[in-house]
Formats: sequence, C-alpha cells, structure tokens
Amino acid sequence: MHKGLAIYPGSFDPTTNGHLDLIERGAKIFEDLVVAILRNSEKSPMFSVVERRDMLRELTAHLKNVRIDTFDGLMVEYAKSLGATCILRGIRAISDYEYELQMALMNRKLEPTLETVFMMPADKYSYVSSRLVREVAQAGGPVKGLVPEVVEQKLREKLAIGKQQRETRSIEILDRIDLGGKELNPKETKRKKKA
Ligand code: PNS
Repeated sequence: MHKGLAIYPGSFDPTTNGHLDLIERGAKIFEDLVVAILRNSEKSPMFSVVERRDMLRELTAHLKNVRIDTFDGLMVEYAKSLGATCILRGIRAISDYEYELQMALMNRKLEPTLETVFMMPADKYSYVSSRLVREVAQAGGPVKGLVPEVVEQKLREKLAIGKQQRETRSIEILDRIDLGGKELNPKETKRKKKA
C-alpha cells in the first residue's frame, strides 16, 4: 500500500459503477483516498454538488480510508492544500488516453511534485460513462447494472420531477395561448387550472 494521500477528482454526474470500481481499487492501493467533486464545472449538471456528494458518501461508507469532498478552481492547488502526493484517474479505452495524458502533463507542469496514477476499471464497465448514463436515462432507457442502485433510484426521481415540471410548464403555456397571449397572474393561473 502506498503511504500518503491520493485524490480522485471528477464530475461524478452521476457516479457510475466504473467510478465505484476505481474507488475500490484505489482504496486498496492508497493509504487515504479523497474523492473530490468539482464544484465550478461549466457544464450544467444533472445532479447538484450536494446530491453527488451525498450519493458518493453513501456508496463509499464501507471504505474506511475513503473521504468525499468538493473543490473549486485548480485541482493541483486543492490537492496540494490536502497534502496529496498522487492524483488518481481512470482510463477505460484508448479514446480516454489523449485527454487524460494532456491533463496529466498540464497538471505536472503546474505542480511537478504531484504524480498522476492511471488505473483501469473492470472491463465490463469500459463503455460506461456518466454522459451516456444520463443520455440513456433521459431517453427512458434502462441503466441497471451501469450505476449503483441508489443512483438508479435518484435518476428515476430526478427524471420524474423533470417530467412533472415540463407538464406544468406546458399547461401554463396552453393557458396563455387560450387567453390570446395575455399573461396571467399566478392566482388566475391557479383558478384556471382548477376549472
Ligand atoms: O470527470 P471529469 O469531468 O472528467 O473530471 C475532470 C476534472 C474535474 C478532473 C478536471 O476538469 C479538473 O481537474 N478541473 C479542475 C480545474 C483544473 O485544475 N483544470 C486543469 C486541468 S489540466
């Protein structure tokens, strides 16, 4: 086991079985592992940082040397502030390699004392990514076996809420069209919906 602290940074939107597999492998190799969720991602996330953090905490509760945290700004600065010596990243396929190599070399340029360590998740997860999981789930497809059960459940809840909100918005738009484009005040909208 490598003495010292490693960080595993990422978006985790949401955590997949591939992420979890990598965390479990990392926890066997590093004395301490901090899974760090980027807070200021430019992408508009499906899950809030708090939701992602809470899911990861639940999923890693059995791993005593793993902690979940969030960070902002430069990853190497955050890693240094924790006293980390390694950055853990997963590589699933050759397609990941180019981006990961670029990032690792940039991070090395920014902070030469930090070493990036790449690990491969189990091959059964080699095609699983958060982006594809979101896409499949949003289109109503099954994500069983691709994400942990708690994530599957949260995806279902999130998509049900989204559907409900879209339906409410459609009703409001139809109300407006009914009134020849005239805006309704909220009380009128409610009365009209009840009618
Ligand atoms: O899961 P992701 O989206 O592939 O993770 C990418 C992440 C969060 C590791 C990367 O974007 C990152 O470290 N962002 C923080 C800002 C930073 O340090 N950028 C320079 C990277 S070379």
